[in-house]
Amino acid sequence: MSLSQIARSIKASPTLALNEKAAILREKGDPVIHLGGGEPKSRAPMDALLAAVNSLNTGEIRYAPADGIPELKKAIIRYTEEFYGRKVNPENVIASGGAKQAIMVAMQSILNPQEEIIFPAPYWVSYPDMARLCGAIPVPVLPEDGTFYPRLKDIEQRVGSYTRAIIINSPNNPTGAMYSEEFIADIVDFCERKDIYLIMDDIYHRLIFDGKKPFSAYNYTKKSVEESKLIIINGVSKQYAMTGFRIGWAVGNKKVIEAMANIQGHQTSGPSVLLQKAAVGALNGIQSSVESLRVTLENNRNILIGLLKSFNGIKVTVPDGTFYCFADFSAYEKDSQKLSTYLIDKVMVLTVPGKEFGLDGFLRISYCGAIKEITDGIERMKWALDPNSPNELYIGDRKLVRDWS
Ligand SMILES: Cc1ncc(COP(=O)(O)O)c(C=O)c1O
Repeated sequence: MSLSQIARSIKASPTLALNEKAAILREKGDPVIHLGGGEPKSRAPMDALLAAVNSLNTGEIRYAPADGIPELKKAIIRYTEEFYGRKVNPENVIASGGAKQAIMVAMQSILNPQEEIIFPAPYWVSYPDMARLCGAIPVPVLPEDGTFYPRLKDIEQRVGSYTRAIIINSPNNPTGAMYSEEFIADIVDFCERKDIYLIMDDIYHRLIFDGKKPFSAYNYTKKSVEESKLIIINGVSKQYAMTGFRIGWAVGNKKVIEAMANIQGHQTSGPSVLLQKAAVGALNGIQSSVESLRVTLENNRNILIGLLKSFNGIKVTVPDGTFYCFADFSAYEKDSQKLSTYLIDKVMVLTVPGKEFGLDGFLRISYCGAIKEITDGIERMKWALDPNSPNELYIGDRKLVRDWS
């Protein structure tokens, strides 16, 4: 069967594949610990649920504008004012099927085939394939100083006549690193001088720790929203634990938002009205669930970091936010794919190989689950990797025997 060149250039999302693997193993009755997940386990806010139920009860769920229902746009405008200090208009806003679709249609609106989009590495797994879906070329840039904090000078070197856009994700998936205000100010200024688009993927911006506060890239531009090539991405998935609702959005100049709406109109006719109503409920409702999630995640992070620090040979950078830690396991195994598979096979612990994020030798470990899962998961990993481990490990009444060295 012949498939298009684009289809052949795209691989399945490794994180979604991992979720499927966990589900299959669980169905078989295996006591899997999923430290590879990308979603909070708390319930969606009551205001979101009630808004969706009220809408559903009308029995009239119809087509709506492809760029989002007015009510949701209004809520996003208010959110943008609160968190970004900018007053925008409905024409500056598009609601999409998750932040993922917002990023995808943004790329489709600005990238021509063979043009380049730059992003710091390690990067979110989807960026390279999204660029390829546009026929464009993904250009990951690894900070040369070996940290998770990109420097403008590393990025500058990779910018050429084909560079059309830069995408910045802070706090970052997979590292949890929140980039400094100084770096964001520099990158905004740099993109403006070069006249290239800057996409800010802010999906984790309220899930930050150690007293840090979210800040806005708009603080560093003197341009109006209409003159600016900044595109801000956000959504309800992570902060409100509403991953399955699939509602995200973008804010940008009218022209780019109109192009995105045209593309989205042909792709999906816009996200489900019912789920947009739920997002309105979340955005306009009581906000305590966001803070409660943030506090839980900060506590989970502290527990995970404590456990990893007592793990011989593992190097960790303390995450500033998100619910991921990207730990260096290269002292045990340089091939992260091999290591991740080994941990599933030997002790049924799922982690995501660093290779998928552009940096081998690392594993992404999520701390969005229960504390027991985190502590048991790390204990199992230690048992599997440390040659001095006792010969046996009990998982419930199941006995694992260490028959490898
Ligand atoms: C960095 C980053 N951006 C965007 C998304 C997509 O979010 P959504 O579920 O709203 O599509 C994710 C989800 O994992 C992410 O980690």
